[in-house]
Amino acid sequence: MATYVQLNTTAKMPLVGLGTWKSPAGQVKAAVMAAIDAGYRHFDCAYAYLNESEIGEGIQQKIKEGVVKREDLFVVSKLWCTFHEKPLVKGACQKSLAKLKLDYLDLYLIHWPFGYKIESHPYLTQEKLIKYCQSKGLAVTAYCPLGSPDRPWAKPGDPSLLDDPKIKEIAAKHDKTPAQVLLRFQIQRNVIAIPKSVTPERIVENFQVFDFELTKEEMATILTFNRNWRICEMNVSKNLKEYPFHAEY
Ligand SMILES: NC(=O)c1ccc[n+]([C@@H]2O[C@H](COP(=O)([O-])OP(=O)(O)OC[C@H]3O[C@@H](n4cnc5c(N)ncnc54)[C@H](OP(=O)(O)O)[C@@H]3O)[C@@H](O)[C@H]2O)c1
Repeated sequence: MATYVQLNTTAKMPLVGLGTWKSPAGQVKAAVMAAIDAGYRHFDCAYAYLNESEIGEGIQQKIKEGVVKREDLFVVSKLWCTFHEKPLVKGACQKSLAKLKLDYLDLYLIHWPFGYKIESHPYLTQEKLIKYCQSKGLAVTAYCPLGSPDRPWAKPGDPSLLDDPKIKEIAAKHDKTPAQVLLRFQIQRNVIAIPKSVTPERIVENFQVFDFELTKEEMATILTFNRNWRICEMNVSKNLKEYPFHAEY
């Protein structure tokens, strides 16, 4: 299978990218370098993650070492909510570029625009939305693909995808880990996944998802795990009329 999704612009967006939300300063530079060595070429960054400077250092070091060229990479950043007003956009983008030590981004997303609904994993499979986007030629990225176990608001008793016995069972059949099954589930339906890790072994593990295939039945079984469990609910905005997660879609 292809390892990327081709966007309307003809740009190729790698199906697996490194997530960087919550990746701490002091660890994220090494994580980026380990990811490049493991074959990652897509990095999901954002001004609001407060670590773009270190990410830039990691990228620059690998370019200096001759491991990759800038044009081999697909770097994403995001315009934080306080800069959504038109006159503020350019400066915010330039700030991210300066921190990342790049002169262009491959994708600049609006961070938390209202109408933005795509988080996905087996407990929030988003079948209808993904089908609709793909039918219109829109590429979809699944964030929190592993269920975001390090989310700051995790509570005891919350569902845990990585510990789900049925995911574990499928993983064992393929001699793979639960994380690899969760990621393969997305890329096999042409959805880009951006697992975050600062652990070198996991960074490698999360990229080893192109050498096995889930059966049609397994894909269908995983879709039945949906329970509309949303990790990033943006609770502070629940009372706004533009709040995007009330509607059925
Ligand atoms: N646009 C948005 O609004 C938005 C919102 C949420 C997330 N995102 C993006 O999506 C990325 C991914 O989402 P996320 O960070 O919330 O969660 P995630 O990728 O679903 O999960 C990350 C957690 O899983 C652990 N992990 C990673 N690989 C593992 C493995 N193979 N086995 C077991 N545990 C593993 C990580 O630990 P260690 O790091 O300690 O290894 C970390 O605790 C973010 O980092 C960010 O780039 C975007």
